[in-house]
Amino acid sequence: LSSLKVRLQRALRQFPDFPSPGVLFEDILPIFADPRLHSDLIHALEVHVLQTFGEEDKPDVIVGLESRGFLFGPSLALRLGAGFVPVRKKGKLPGPTVEAKYEKEYGEDWFQMQADGISKGQKVLVVDDLIATGGSAAATGSLIRQLGGKLLGYVFIIELDFLKGREKLDAPVYTLLTGQEGKASEAS
Ligand code: PRP
Ligand code: MG
Repeated sequence: LSSLKVRLQRALRQFPDFPSPGVLFEDILPIFADPRLHSDLIHALEVHVLQTFGEEDKPDVIVGLESRGFLFGPSLALRLGAGFVPVRKKGKLPGPTVEAKYEKEYGEDWFQMQADGISKGQKVLVVDDLIATGGSAAATGSLIRQLGGKLLGYVFIIELDFLKGREKLDAPVYTLLTGQEGKASEAS
């Protein structure tokens, strides 16, 4: 796992002042451009989930956040024999939905999930590329609970831990890498 973390870290690219001044953007897309790294990432996440929850208590549903959570949520779900259900930004999903507000840097926005996406009591794991303030992930937890799902936890590739986003979450959080203010470094 430590060598995978090093390979992932090397693949990341940082873009200063994107999308706005003062923000150091962590670009995860090179991971997905490299088929071996992509495959090893999905495998490592699968192993982590199975080791953490066991075959009996593994998730029934993987919930991925629009849009970068869509890059690996479905492949992880397939490996685990779980369903995949998207969280989307408001106005994209047809039929009955539940919604939750989240704070963005400039104002607020809403996330939605289809009301029949999760059934009461289903075990749900949330995946996204990165946790920054934790606002997106916390709103997703609220959507899952509105539908009666059992939130097992959250999986991220990178955590910007100086923003303390995990303090907003009330389920276990697993991250592979830590990105620090101004520079990225390998998580311990
Ligand atoms: C980014 C990132 C996470 C979220 C984290 O997504 O992919 O989803 O921000 O931020 P938070 O922890 O402060 O809520 P973004 O909203 O930029 O959209 P995208 O995935 O569609 O690019
Ligand atoms: Mg996102």
